[in-house]
Amino acid sequence: MKKTFDQLLLTTSLFCLVLTSFLVLPSLAAAQAAPVPNAQLAAKDLNARVEALLKKMTLEEKIGQTVQYSAGFATGPSGSKLSYEDLTQRGAIGSLLNVQGAEQTNRFQHIAMDKSRLHIPLIFGMDVIHGQHTIFPVPLGLAASWDPKLIAGVAHTSAIEARADGLSWVFSPMVDISRDARWGRMVESAGEDPYLGSAIARGWVLGYQQNDLTKPDSVAVSVKHFAAYGAAIAGRDYNAVDMSDITLRQVYLPPYHAAVDAGAATVMSSFNSINGVPATANPYTLTQILRKEWGFDGFVVSDWGAVSELLNHAIGPDGATVARKALEAGVDMDMEGNLYGTTLAAQVRSGQIPESVVDEAVRRILRVKFALGLFEHPYTPVTPPYAPTAENRAQARAVAAETIVLLKNDPVEGAGALLPLSKSAKTVALIGPLADSAKEMLGSWGALGDPKFAISLRQALQERLGDHLLYAKGCEILSGNDANVLRHVSFIDQANPPSSEVTEAVPDDAKTIAEAVETAKKADVAILALGESADWMTGEASSRAHLDLPGHQEQLLEAVAATGKPVILVMFTGRPNAIKWAGAHIPAIVEAWYPGMEGGHAVADVLFGDVNPSAKTPVSFPRATGQEPLYYAQMPTGRPAHGDLSHLPTNAQEKFMSRYLDEDNSALFPFGWGLSYTRFSYSQPAVSKAQVSRQDVAEGHAPGLTVSVDVRNSGSVAGTEVVQLYVRNTSASVEQPLRELKGFARVTLAPGETKHVEFPLGFDELSFYNVESKRVVEPTTYKVFVGGSSLASEETSFQVN
Ligand code: BGC
Repeated sequence: MKKTFDQLLLTTSLFCLVLTSFLVLPSLAAAQAAPVPNAQLAAKDLNARVEALLKKMTLEEKIGQTVQYSAGFATGPSGSKLSYEDLTQRGAIGSLLNVQGAEQTNRFQHIAMDKSRLHIPLIFGMDVIHGQHTIFPVPLGLAASWDPKLIAGVAHTSAIEARADGLSWVFSPMVDISRDARWGRMVESAGEDPYLGSAIARGWVLGYQQNDLTKPDSVAVSVKHFAAYGAAIAGRDYNAVDMSDITLRQVYLPPYHAAVDAGAATVMSSFNSINGVPATANPYTLTQILRKEWGFDGFVVSDWGAVSELLNHAIGPDGATVARKALEAGVDMDMEGNLYGTTLAAQVRSGQIPESVVDEAVRRILRVKFALGLFEHPYTPVTPPYAPTAENRAQARAVAAETIVLLKNDPVEGAGALLPLSKSAKTVALIGPLADSAKEMLGSWGALGDPKFAISLRQALQERLGDHLLYAKGCEILSGNDANVLRHVSFIDQANPPSSEVTEAVPDDAKTIAEAVETAKKADVAILALGESADWMTGEASSRAHLDLPGHQEQLLEAVAATGKPVILVMFTGRPNAIKWAGAHIPAIVEAWYPGMEGGHAVADVLFGDVNPSAKTPVSFPRATGQEPLYYAQMPTGRPAHGDLSHLPTNAQEKFMSRYLDEDNSALFPFGWGLSYTRFSYSQPAVSKAQVSRQDVAEGHAPGLTVSVDVRNSGSVAGTEVVQLYVRNTSASVEQPLRELKGFARVTLAPGETKHVEFPLGFDELSFYNVESKRVVEPTTYKVFVGGSSLASEETSFQVN
């Protein structure tokens, strides 16, 4: 398996190299030509097939290709007497989502292939987000691995399982930069940083598509949610986004661009507006940037109902108008919106929409269907129901172990660090509402993951410790006193329809907390498994205004810690929670995110030292909710909290600076942070040239210099360090962040071993957007920091002349 992915990565590099030499080298004028990110979609013979088919299609059949419905929960579109089967037979549907399993997809496909006039196959899509049946850690956890190759492996396994279920299209990866932990969808993202996010986006696309959509184990991706969905004002899901063009291009767009460059076949438009223009009717992002600047040749699908929601955005008086605006802006397929199917034909006939606009959308959709080989292989062999194999489990466990972040591991009185736990029998008290839930391990968007195959932490510890494991739940995830959240919970739970009255009984947490304290007293060490509910506190529509541990969990933690027993806190969350008290008082803290099907085993592997943790957090942990949005790449200010304020009167120096009166500015655990059971030491970084010319770091030029560093494992066990390189541009026409990640490498070292690591720096790393939205490198001095987190202190510098 490993070899296959090494080969894949090599193929991609060669592919890019060939493509680059084609596009860039022959003449620099050719650099002006639109890039061709996916050669299969641009191929002449494929496009000839598209044109030939397009010529045969009626207007209705063309529009049919732009219509997508979810056949998962209903028998036909709301307000229509026709079923999805009827519509498929009429050629009025191009795609279905949420149809589960090969039998069902084949059934619909037979209608399309045998009974519709032109026999155009449907394309079946689904939210395969971190696995289809074999469920891996949530994407935020996967990002904590800083390992795009590992993620490509996850995507490939997911593609195999999705294909077996008749799906050839996944609504993944989500590459929205998320810097605000209040936003529940942070769990689906790769976190706060555009450089890391771009590397991870490439890993996903490569693993799913393998640079070849025709392969029977490749699926088309849908890069989402285009664009800037993660920057919702106040962290409230679906809310408006407002930002400068520079921030859009420099921070939010790079991961989408990286995914498109890696050949992404489709893109999903987002729910939010950007600077007043809804993303689903936004010609600037969908046509100017995506198509003209990036050369995207695939198709754009709207997010669920996002075309109809343009009515709520109030950019048109009726459905017909907003559908026209979405289509003309560049949305080719209407997901579960019902507006393309019902309003476009009349508008073409009346001349309001040129038929060529519809034709173009259809071309883009057919291109992907042809490239996937759906016309030749429309059906899926029916195979026995999924049961995890030893190989699936081994992959899920190894992947999960790479995603678990050791946030803190302080020595406890009279002993060394609490972790790893000694394997000689000790009595362990496992406490907390997340300790015994296999289902929660799967995280949000668990696709077809079945909790019966998932391993809870309790089960995993039981296997290791037998009678030496004690257990107490301690409290519920959320207790009944938070009325708003409870209302939300009852809405999600279909059996309990929403009510304005909160009637749920308040669980008696005081009693169960007291029981947990007694359990802890009987043990040598307590492990507290705390966090959020994956289902209803993280993911879509799950923004939180209070990021503290939910319910009575903090009280539980404090009560157990008060026994004096050493406490290890294991967090299962979809975002960093504000755990300031724990940060100050609990000696060992582990962030496990939602670690997937083998989650319990993987956490136990880390706790007992069978795996030496190597993950680094891809998001900053706040001390308090009020710090959000919190991210390391802060812009400078004239009044920095720790800067030189000597120009101010002495009595003003304390007060008039950029800081909170009641909280520190810094993160509790910063971006890139994560400990190991060994120690790593760094040499001072060295630059290959102290000065480079702008030509040496111009676009299309090989990187003009390298930064190198020696990293040594100075501890006594083998370990893997994620070596991180940050730069600061000290003088630019547009102010630049105080630090920006521009390189990273995972380095595995035996005790005492030293490795030399090199980071190339060129246009991609050093350029930024100026006030004209042009990517430039200007004469300046760059500071460079290398180390094991965004606090990296080893420093060097170089000049660009
Ligand atoms: C989500 C998308 C998802 C789509 C289809 C929407 O509500 O925002 O991420 O792909 O539904 O299920």
